[in-house]
Amino acid sequence: MRVEELAAPHLPAFVAAIDAVFVTARGRNGSVAERWPALFRPGGARCFAVLAEGAPIAGLVARPVRCQADDRQFIAHQVGFVFTLLPWRGRGLAARVLHAAAEQVPGPLVLWATRPGLYAKLGWEAWDPHGAKGEWRGEGGTGNEAPVLMPSMLPDLEAIRARARPRRVARSEQDWLARPFGAARMLVARVPQAYALFAQQDGRAILYELVGDPAHYDALWPHVVQNCRSALLNLDAESDAARWLRQRGVTPHPNPLSMWLRWPPADRWSLDWLDRI
Ligand SMILES: CC(C)(COP(=O)(O)OP(=O)(O)OC[C@H]1O[C@@H](n2cnc3c(N)ncnc32)[C@H](O)[C@@H]1OP(=O)(O)O)[C@@H](O)C(=O)NCCC(=O)NCCS
Repeated sequence: MRVEELAAPHLPAFVAAIDAVFVTARGRNGSVAERWPALFRPGGARCFAVLAEGAPIAGLVARPVRCQADDRQFIAHQVGFVFTLLPWRGRGLAARVLHAAAEQVPGPLVLWATRPGLYAKLGWEAWDPHGAKGEWRGEGGTGNEAPVLMPSMLPDLEAIRARARPRRVARSEQDWLARPFGAARMLVARVPQAYALFAQQDGRAILYELVGDPAHYDALWPHVVQNCRSALLNLDAESDAARWLRQRGVTPHPNPLSMWLRWPPADRWSLDWLDRI
């Protein structure tokens, strides 16, 4: 069975296969195409699959990410949604798709693996010294929900992010509007110098970004945990946000998920949670 790079007519069936594995089988709702609006459009990501009778049975996406550091830019590709449909597992298909994609996509590749074994066998290396997660517990107080992230807010948020993160992945408007699993809607708390990007569900917050001048985090935090008794925190352990949260009793635990292929050691990056697929 050959690995093919899919053209537009195959994409709806490809998205349906990814949804079967990552959405339906995990008791989630909706479609990855709604959550990552930039991904399955022309120019969004390269999609590779093995087809059986014309339908994808195993595959992955490789999405270009423009990494920028001050005056320097380079392109890496993020690999995501590595899947094999249930009846086809254990026959080497995922390994074959990964191998073919790595041959056809130039430059460094990065992915987030909860099962590193599969990738390590294919030469991928774990490297994520700052990846961490944490949990806050407390009484968040009550109040009105924070505003939902809107395209009109993006220039202000982007300006804060550009000041705070000289090394970052460039984001289009569609990239900003990604909704990771677990986020029904993205909420925003902001002041001119800093912002928090988060979701809330059933009394629990998930913090995706706390960026900008730490002097203003005190003003933002009550909005993040409002109406909540716990918050899950996805952190870069070296970030201002992690330092600020440590001072408030949150202990970040290592959560090293990144794996890399063909990444020159000097250029390795930590990608923010919202930039991940
Ligand atoms: C993980 C998944 C893609 C593997 O697909 P597959 O086609 O069965 O994998 P392969 O047959 O190509 O296996 C490749 C190698 O990885 C190993 N492997 C397979 N599944 C694995 C797993 N869940 N954890 C660790 N290693 C695994 C296999 O043992 C095999 O090694 P071997 O050649 O030495 O025997 C498939 O189980 C799947 O779709 N799972 C749900 C989605 C998912 O979790 N994706 C990965 C997110 S990190």
